[in-house]
Amino acid sequence: PTGHLADRLGRPLRDLRISVTDRCNFRCGYCMPSEVFDRRYRFLPHDALLSFEEITRVASVFLAHGVRKLRLTGGEPLLRKQLPSLVEQLAALRTVDGTPPELTLTTNGSLLARLARPLREAGLTRVTVSLDALDDTVFRRMNDVDFPVADVLRGVDAALAAGLVPVKLNMVVRRGMNDHEILPLARHVRDTWGPAVRLRFIEYMDVGTSNGWRLDEVLPSEQLRERLDAAFGLEPLLPASPDETAERWRWRDGRGEIGLISSVTKAFCGDCSRARLSTEGKLFTCLFATRGHDLRSLLRGGASDAQIAAAVGGVWSARADRYSEQRGEHTAAPGERRIEMHYIGG
Ligand code: GTP
Ligand code: 5AD
Ligand code: SF4
Ligand code: SF4
Repeated sequence: PTGHLADRLGRPLRDLRISVTDRCNFRCGYCMPSEVFDRRYRFLPHDALLSFEEITRVASVFLAHGVRKLRLTGGEPLLRKQLPSLVEQLAALRTVDGTPPELTLTTNGSLLARLARPLREAGLTRVTVSLDALDDTVFRRMNDVDFPVADVLRGVDAALAAGLVPVKLNMVVRRGMNDHEILPLARHVRDTWGPAVRLRFIEYMDVGTSNGWRLDEVLPSEQLRERLDAAFGLEPLLPASPDETAERWRWRDGRGEIGLISSVTKAFCGDCSRARLSTEGKLFTCLFATRGHDLRSLLRGGASDAQIAAAVGGVWSARADRYSEQRGEHTAAPGERRIEMHYIGG
């Protein structure tokens, strides 16, 4: 591989998001509604999961194809046993330029107070924490397992203390559920952490088929931005890289920046360079894909690195996904089952 792979729309492959478990200790209604993910739900059995060695091998193939950023996701990635040891193995890999990959993780923060330091010491470069409300009652309602917000806030503090700076916070906004938490959360981040924490607001998306998504629950980022601007004053920033999901804005008073992730009202497929590896080793070329490409059987069937690289190259070259740009009010063709967020991660 040369690192010059492009898909059918000319998009390079730059970012690999690796799901390390399909389990989670939260039941956010927009991702793992408790009516669906109850005691009877069958998660993947242990031997279906890629081992750390298998994940590292796949990651090295993607890096050879030009990937620069690895992100661990879930479900909740910190539930995977010995995760720092995987981070250590991934941190030892190199991009085609010979530099270490950017190595980051998206977590619900529930176990971060304990794990921030070992993860940092293993080579993690950054962390993104999901935080949908500041008010404890609203937060407990959003995670639907009665988990207190104070523990997540402590996780953020631990990440900052361990040097995982800046910490990004993701707030998924559902109109009528937590949109009244936008200003309190923004105020809290500005006053407590300033520029060390970047709060990002995500438009609620129609990922998967379990969450019963409705367009009227989406608060368009433009309206959200107007509310924030009126309260605290915002000005635009230039994107840090072309394939960024978030549009960047900064507080006029210098207390840091925020991001708007507008997958519904302002799709960003045009520069999407993200591939996703599921917990069981399937490669997905879009968050809204209906099927993946099995890499695990290659890994376990004795394929060489070159053969795996050729398979990945073939899948990426054939890619034409741009779901968010095509989405209308009616999502997913009838009878089609899209992958679920807990299975493929953010
Ligand atoms: P960093 O800014 O480097 O931390 O990466 P990122 O912006 O990709 O961050 P993160 O993984 O936290 O993604 C933020 C959220 O954006 C995810 O949780 C998803 O909700 C959404 N998102 C990320 N990638 C995609 C994508 O490819 N398509 C769509 N539609 N949404 C995405
Ligand atoms: N819409 C938008 N964001 C979502 N996430 C999970 N499900 C959805 C959805 N339906 C976000 C989480 C977390 C990341 C893993 O993905 O809030 O930040
Ligand atoms: Fe778990 Fe994250 Fe899904 Fe919430 S959004 S249920 S924390 S994986
Ligand atoms: Fe990329 Fe698919 Fe998301 Fe578009 S909808 S940005 S192609 S993952």
